[in-house]
Amino acid sequence: MTDNLKVFSGGSNPDLAMEICGHIGIPLSPMEISRFSNDNLFVQIKESVREKDVFVVQSLTTPVSDHLMELMITIDALRSASAKRITAVIPYYSYARSDKKDAPRISIAARLVADLLKTAGADRVLTMDLHADAVHGFFSIPVDHLTFMPTICDYFAGLLDLSKVVVVATDAGGAKRAGRFAKRLNTSLAIIDKRRLSDSNVQQGLVVGHVKGLDAIVFDDEISTGGTLVSTVDTLKRAGADNIYVGATHPVLCGQAVKNLRQTVVSRIVVANTVHVPAEKQFPQLKSLSVAPLFARAVKHIHTGESVSALFKP
Ligand code: R5P
Repeated sequence: MTDNLKVFSGGSNPDLAMEICGHIGIPLSPMEISRFSNDNLFVQIKESVREKDVFVVQSLTTPVSDHLMELMITIDALRSASAKRITAVIPYYSYARSDKKDAPRISIAARLVADLLKTAGADRVLTMDLHADAVHGFFSIPVDHLTFMPTICDYFAGLLDLSKVVVVATDAGGAKRAGRFAKRLNTSLAIIDKRRLSDSNVQQGLVVGHVKGLDAIVFDDEISTGGTLVSTVDTLKRAGADNIYVGATHPVLCGQAVKNLRQTVVSRIVVANTVHVPAEKQFPQLKSLSVAPLFARAVKHIHTGESVSALFKP
C-alpha cells in the first residue's frame, strides 16, 4: 500500500516529518539542501521519485522566506524528476495572516503564496488550522485542512471539570472558531474585544460573556509574539476568572513571547508540534501534543483516495 508513497522534509521541522513517517511505517526519503557561495539555495532529491506519490513536509516558520523558497525549489525538483503527484504538507502556513486588504497598497500575500506553490508544481496542499477559513479558497488546487481542535478538546476534557469551564475567544475574529470548540466541550463561550495597536501590542477591553469564578480555556490559532495572550490573561483575571488554560495550534513564539508568557499566571498552554520549539524556548507551562498521527492518517487517506474529512467524524 505504501510502495509508491514517499515523504520528504524541508529544513523547518524534520522531527515532525520523521514522526509522520514513523506512523505511516516508511523511512523519510533523502534530499540535500545547501547553499551556493552566492547564497542561492540548492536542493537535490537523493532517490528516484518517478511515478511516485510524493509529500513534502515544510512549515513556514522563521526564516520564513528561506523555508518557502526551499519548499518551492523542492517541489520544482520533484516535478522535474517525474513525480506522479506532489502534495505540499504545510503544517503551519504563516502567510494565512495576510488574508485581507485592511490597509491601502498592500498584498494579500496568503493568495500570492498559494499561487506560487501551484506554479512551482504542487498538485495539492495538506495543512492545519489556517488563521482564517477563507484562505482555503485562495488555492486553486485541492486543500485538505486538518484541525488540532479535537486533540485539544480531548486533552482538556480529561483534565478539567467542564461544568465550571468557559471557552474564551481572544477577539471577535476568533469567535466562530472558539464557538466550535465550546460546542464540542459543551461549555459556554466568552469573547474579548481586541484592537491590535502594532505587531506585538494589543489592547483588550470588554469581555462579552460570563467568566467570573470559572476556569477559562482560551482558544486561538497561534501564539506569535504572545501579546494577545498576555493581554487576555490579564483581562480575564480582572474579570474574575479562576484558573486560565490555553489551547493554541501553532507555537510560533517569536520576539519576547517566551519571556512574557512565563511571567503570566496561566496554568497550562497546550500547543501542537506544527512549529518546532527548540529547547531554549521550552517553559514549564508549555505542553506540546503531537499532530504526527493525524497527519500520517491524512497522508495515507490521500494516497489511497479515501475521505480525509472522515478523520474528523466524532
Ligand atoms: C489574531 O488574530 C490571532 O488569532 C492570534 O491571536 C494572533 O495571531 C496572535 O498573535 P500575537 O501572539 O502576536 O498576539
